[in-house]
Amino acid sequence: MSLEIMGVRKTFHTKSGAQPVLRGVDLEIEKGEFVSIIGHSGCGKSTLLNVIGGLEGADEGKVVLDGFRVEGPGPDRAIVFQNYSLLPWMSVYDNVVEAALSARPDRKSDATRDIAEKYLRSTGLWLHRDKKPGEISGGMRQRTAVARAFAVGPKVLLLDEPFGALDALTRSNLQQQLIDLWSHEDDTETVLMVTHGIDEAIFLADRIVVMANPPKPSVAEIIEVKIERPRDKAELPKDPEYQRIRERLVYLLERELVTPQTNEQEAA
Ligand SMILES: Nc1ncnc2c1ncn2[C@@H]1O[C@H](COP(=O)(O)OP(=O)(O)OP(=O)(O)O)[C@@H](O)[C@H]1O
Ligand SMILES: [Mg+2]
Repeated sequence: MSLEIMGVRKTFHTKSGAQPVLRGVDLEIEKGEFVSIIGHSGCGKSTLLNVIGGLEGADEGKVVLDGFRVEGPGPDRAIVFQNYSLLPWMSVYDNVVEAALSARPDRKSDATRDIAEKYLRSTGLWLHRDKKPGEISGGMRQRTAVARAFAVGPKVLLLDEPFGALDALTRSNLQQQLIDLWSHEDDTETVLMVTHGIDEAIFLADRIVVMANPPKPSVAEIIEVKIERPRDKAELPKDPEYQRIRERLVYLLERELVTPQTNEQEAA
């Protein structure tokens, strides 16, 4: 089965008028696919993720997951927000336990603890499990957010720039950890990840959805990444397919999709 986004429209009404943010989004994402979403600031990437997550309703259209229409949030979809949200009063360990319990309150406590341990180990946080979010680095906080999302055991993992504010080395490590988790995971089948990083999008994704600001359609282009896995980060830049996709993305983002609105936002 799959995740289907059909004719989704969403307009925000603000003091300065109506802002049509999602202008008829149609996407069909296959089970097990890793999809990256890229586009200029304000083009509606977070809004789209929130609609899929069921946190925001669409004005028109629908989201269907495995044949069921999404009507609100649910444990079949986990979101890691742009400003990753942890519970500051709880330890790293308890943050992950809390996420696992929120999805399956009925699960035995042994099983919940096993799940927390599994994801804390695979994200390299096990030794830091007793610390509070305020006592660990930004990269560790983002890893905790990723561990929480996996602990939910969702069918669809929605990641909104999860590695946004990180240095290049930490980011690169986390990308690899994410791919390792995703490829070994039986429960989490599908990932949708918003990113501003062109290289990150190509390294991770099976397909890249390029979104645009008005007046262009919300989904400007969808690019398939036909590069075999596992992908070697060091070798990737030499791959002609990688170079072709990279060139296309740079062209789209730096020429074709630059609108006065984008410039204004960048200047602001
Ligand atoms: N709740 C809201 N009320 C009014 N306008 C909103 C609301 N949420 C988002 N918007 C507007 O909708 C547009 C799209 O916002 P969104 O957060 O989806 O963009 P984005 O692509 O995620 O941008 P960024 O890359 O900066 O995170 C923006 O112009 C934003 O100001
Ligand atoms: Mg956003």
